[in-house]
Amino acid sequence: MPAEIFGEKYEFLPRPHILTFEEIERLVRIFSSAGVSKLRITGGEPLVRANLPDLIFKLSAIEGIDDIALTTNGYLLAQNAQAMMDAGLDRLTISLDSIDEDIFKKMSGRPQGPANTLEGIKVATKIGFSSVKINVVVQRGVNDHTLVDTARYFKGSGAIVRFIEFMDVGTKNGWELSQVVPSKEVIDLIGEEFPLEPIDPNYVGEVASRYRYLDGDGEIGVISSVSEPFCGNCTRARLSTDGKLVTCLFASGGTDLKTPLRAGASELELAEIIGRVWTGRGDRYSELRSKATEFKAGSPDDKVEMYYIGG
Ligand SMILES: C[S@@+](CC[C@H](N)C(=O)[O-])C[C@H]1O[C@@H](n2cnc3c(N)ncnc32)[C@H](O)[C@@H]1O
Repeated sequence: MPAEIFGEKYEFLPRPHILTFEEIERLVRIFSSAGVSKLRITGGEPLVRANLPDLIFKLSAIEGIDDIALTTNGYLLAQNAQAMMDAGLDRLTISLDSIDEDIFKKMSGRPQGPANTLEGIKVATKIGFSSVKINVVVQRGVNDHTLVDTARYFKGSGAIVRFIEFMDVGTKNGWELSQVVPSKEVIDLIGEEFPLEPIDPNYVGEVASRYRYLDGDGEIGVISSVSEPFCGNCTRARLSTDGKLVTCLFASGGTDLKTPLRAGASELELAEIIGRVWTGRGDRYSELRSKATEFKAGSPDDKVEMYYIGG
């Protein structure tokens, strides 16, 4: 979210445009009856939503939902982790592109360093979430010289660092192929310092490829969304804050569920809309981009931004 646009004076979505917790709960019940069992709460920054544990509590009580994860920048995590766990949150992913003070500031676009995020991660690992993962988006020439330091910092801590290839999501991150560091290079770099071996995925379709430290000090992961796109395995649907159903990270729009929901549509009618969108999806943006242009960016003007769609 470029600071020059989303500054102090920016008018964010007025509250009536945002789904209420009750509306989210109702939609999740419908998704659940259609077979969804895993949820991820993301954003934007989910921890700035007031009373978030209340939402987690409602969602964790829904029949069929057996796994709830949350992705956060970790800034407000230390003081919220316990309440979220008590409400039923199972897993946490925290974004932390570098443990280096200056590079963290540069990549987050904010004057604060990583201290709050690191403290949040410490609290989260201590109170016993079933998994704590750290997302590092790798950009050549920006944070690639700090990857080994990040791996070293979390080695043996229980948190799993996952290095993500920089993707051309949205239109505002100035993506260029030359900034992508292929995962293979990341594995070689870290493996030189700490020997690694590949291990099996936890489940079919897991987006990260897993590697374990040979000395038994845990594991890391790489997400090769640019060099080895995994559209064929994707089973994710995304629901935006304002109630749009989006089936691809690189989509140019979504299907409005909020309007029919507020107009009194029945469960069946909403399920039909969701089913139509899901069965009609043909998104394979990453694969097409890779094939046609050797990772070259697609149409730059019509993609949904990452802060809208949540990763
Ligand atoms: C968009 S954020 C939203 C949630 C939360 N505000 C946070 O910072 O984690 C979700 C994830 O997308 C990742 N991400 C953002 N831009 C990316 C890009 N261009 N390529 C790959 N991953 C990206 C972030 O690092 C983060 O882990």
